Amino acid sequence: MPLTDPTSGAVQETPDRAGISSAPLATEEVVVLDYGGQYAQLIARRIRELGVCSELLPHHVGAAEVAKRKPKGLILSGGPASVFGEGAPVLEKELLELGIPVLGICYGMQMLAHSLGGDVQAADHGEFGRTDLTVSDNGVLLAGQPAEQTCWMSHRDAVFSPPAGSRALASSPASPVAAFEDEARRIYAIQYHPEVVHTPFGQEVLRTFLEDICGCRRDWTPSSIVAEQIERIREQVGTGRVVCGLSGGVDSSVAALLVHRAIGDQLTCVFVDHGLMRKNEGEQVIEAFRDHFGVPLVAVDAEERFLAKLAGVSDPEAKRKAIGAEFIRVFEEEAEKIQGADFLVQGTLYSDVIESGGGTGTSTIKSHHNVGGLPDDMQFQLVEPLRTLFKDEVRAVGAELGLPDRLVWRQPFPGPGLAIRIVGGEATRERLEVLREADAILQDEIRQAGLYRELWQSFCVLPDVQTVGVQGDERTYGNLIVIRAVTSEDAMTADWARLPYDLLEKIASRMIGEIPQVNRIALDITSKPPGTIEWE
Ligand code: XMP
Repeated sequence: MPLTDPTSGAVQETPDRAGISSAPLATEEVVVLDYGGQYAQLIARRIRELGVCSELLPHHVGAAEVAKRKPKGLILSGGPASVFGEGAPVLEKELLELGIPVLGICYGMQMLAHSLGGDVQAADHGEFGRTDLTVSDNGVLLAGQPAEQTCWMSHRDAVFSPPAGSRALASSPASPVAAFEDEARRIYAIQYHPEVVHTPFGQEVLRTFLEDICGCRRDWTPSSIVAEQIERIREQVGTGRVVCGLSGGVDSSVAALLVHRAIGDQLTCVFVDHGLMRKNEGEQVIEAFRDHFGVPLVAVDAEERFLAKLAGVSDPEAKRKAIGAEFIRVFEEEAEKIQGADFLVQGTLYSDVIESGGGTGTSTIKSHHNVGGLPDDMQFQLVEPLRTLFKDEVRAVGAELGLPDRLVWRQPFPGPGLAIRIVGGEATRERLEVLREADAILQDEIRQAGLYRELWQSFCVLPDVQTVGVQGDERTYGNLIVIRAVTSEDAMTADWARLPYDLLEKIASRMIGEIPQVNRIALDITSKPPGTIEWE
């Protein structure tokens, strides 16, 4: 079917963008415009799970910005506004002239109905949560689905009649029109949320839209991501030399491996061991990258330098600053030795891009509070091979590249390392050693219990206090170790993990039995909020 090329207005014979030279390689993409809905990011993730690349853009970027992506389809998300509210986002008509199918969800549907002449009204009762849905006409969008099903609703206004030329497909108790479509204009709409798990046929709605309506190939997989990124990296870097700071975390590891796959020994990785890592962690990074993958790696043993900077420092922020500043100094010294390096690899993720304004082309450097955060004035061009990926996709790419499970599934670990887990006191070599041993026992037991991947983070804290105990008829005055284990989706909120009592008992007795300096174990049962995950 001929399509209008959204960038030129010219008729283009094939909807497949693979042959268009300006198109970003062969990836097909569906754009999700975010109208402020709490599930907007989830829509993009669900589309990706169905094997189609999806980008989330703030709605105000406009049709021209959407057109630049040459998407195969467009989704208008839900949002908190009412089409009757002052300042509510209105539908930009140009979005319907891009020549691609459009699916409106929740507010997206109401906006479509309202602006195309349908009847939207403020209903007496909204619908929130699980709701019965009756499909009266499957149309294309709901093809093959049962007449009676449940769905997840979250709305007050409702569509009472669809725009002229559209067919109503379904209804619910408070939504006379819970879905409609206009096949000729390729406009589709549903009031409910297909992206949440409480809508059993939700993923089927999205699959139908992507595959049957937009004609997407659904071939966006870890191996196609790897192939595409390799091509992009080669294109960007040419014969240039590239530096990558390796931390042992999954992001920098996967980014480094991708770049190495693409350009081989034009890449040099720099691993700064600040002496604040967990037990054997430095060796594992070196072993994996240098020995196993053959990546040129400069490993700097900088423990003495960092410990010297941390001497006498107890304040948490002062510790972070001291470690951050020293990290930059060491990294710069090493990077300068790499002749002719123009490029720096950063493990920026798609969630960082979205958080900082939505991927409208502005380059964002992941700075956060990360020790790996390098200053803006470093004279490097950035290579960001993970910029389009969510964390779980980075893990899948890591596995595809053969990264060991231990690195692929590593729990997040703060850049300043164990130093910010020695609380209220100085991070000395002796204290770090005690904490490292306790942490190793905890990790070992948690892995053996098969709980490591279920936990967002599990670690030990060493407060600067001594407690009285009795061991072997003798009075002891030793260290307290606190066990902290949390579950979380994104570290913004967290719940303390209900570890089995038997496991806790085993961990506690091993720590006290195997570490002479430790005589008491406590468990942190604080959620976030009000607590934070780390203690400092
Ligand atoms: P909080 O303690 O704020 O931690 O609940 C949220 C997440 O951030 C990690 N974290 C850090 N990461 N440098 C880092 O790179 C830091 O200074 C830092 N402080 C906290 C923490 O481990 C958790 O995953």
